[in-house]
Amino acid sequence: MSEARLALVTGAARGIGAAIAARLAAGGWGVIAADRDHPSPAVPRIRAVQCDVADEEEVAALIADIRAEAGKLNALVCNAGFMIRKPLADLSLAEWSRVLATNLTSTFLLVRAAEDLLRAAHGAVVTIASTRAHMSEPDTESYAASKGGLVALTHALAMSLGPAVRVNCVSPGWIDTRGEPLTQADHAQHPAGRVGRPEDVAGLVAWLVGPESGFVTGAEFLIDGGMTRKMIYI
Ligand SMILES: NC(=O)c1ccc[n+]([C@@H]2O[C@H](COP(=O)([O-])OP(=O)(O)OC[C@H]3O[C@@H](n4cnc5c(N)ncnc54)[C@H](O)[C@@H]3O)[C@@H](O)[C@H]2O)c1
Repeated sequence: MSEARLALVTGAARGIGAAIAARLAAGGWGVIAADRDHPSPAVPRIRAVQCDVADEEEVAALIADIRAEAGKLNALVCNAGFMIRKPLADLSLAEWSRVLATNLTSTFLLVRAAEDLLRAAHGAVVTIASTRAHMSEPDTESYAASKGGLVALTHALAMSLGPAVRVNCVSPGWIDTRGEPLTQADHAQHPAGRVGRPEDVAGLVAWLVGPESGFVTGAEFLIDGGMTRKMIYI
């Protein structure tokens, strides 16, 4: 890819990651869209690659390919993640570990492997956590722990990689990624009046990897239509 700026977006085959990849591509970035599942159609400026970001060797190979083919990386968006919702007593250690590996350890692996490229580019890292780093429903321990860890990993990385590389976190609330039927009540409960869209998150990520956010690092941005600020007494 010969574009001036190159971004790697993980978990980009669908949902929020796909919207981030599309938004960056529309803004002139070259984008490597990495996913465990191979995304189907080729889109201009977006190159789809297969990678399980929880696997140390696959991450190393992915960054080695970028190093060999492009020789640069200006932005890394660590978006891949998933949730297991299960009563604590039924949650196996293997399941707990898989969630932590995908949602948290992957960012350590990716940033460690790409640190020199990101430093050389004076680049930016954005992690995608969740409002569930701060609030919970029952039976979500592994997911909440992984996202809380990601918020903390973000500010630790910001200290270690600065001033060359800025590292920030975006924590979405309810983002409709599957086009599921939504009720008026689903929308109305949000102070912003609606459920979120992948494009809402993509716009914030585009700003965070761009030049206008140069004084922003180590920060977490909650993008949740106001839900975490809403006091509820029933
Ligand atoms: N949708 C929401 O409401 C919401 C809210 C808060 C946070 N998030 C976070 O945003 C991110 C994206 O969520 P989404 O709703 O778009 O999810 P999604 O399930 O629609 O897409 C996630 C993508 O990540 C990929 N992926 C999963 N594990 C992977 C792995 N080990 N290696 C590589 N790719 C992998 C999947 O194949 C999929 O394409 C996740 O980190 C999620 O936790 C989502």
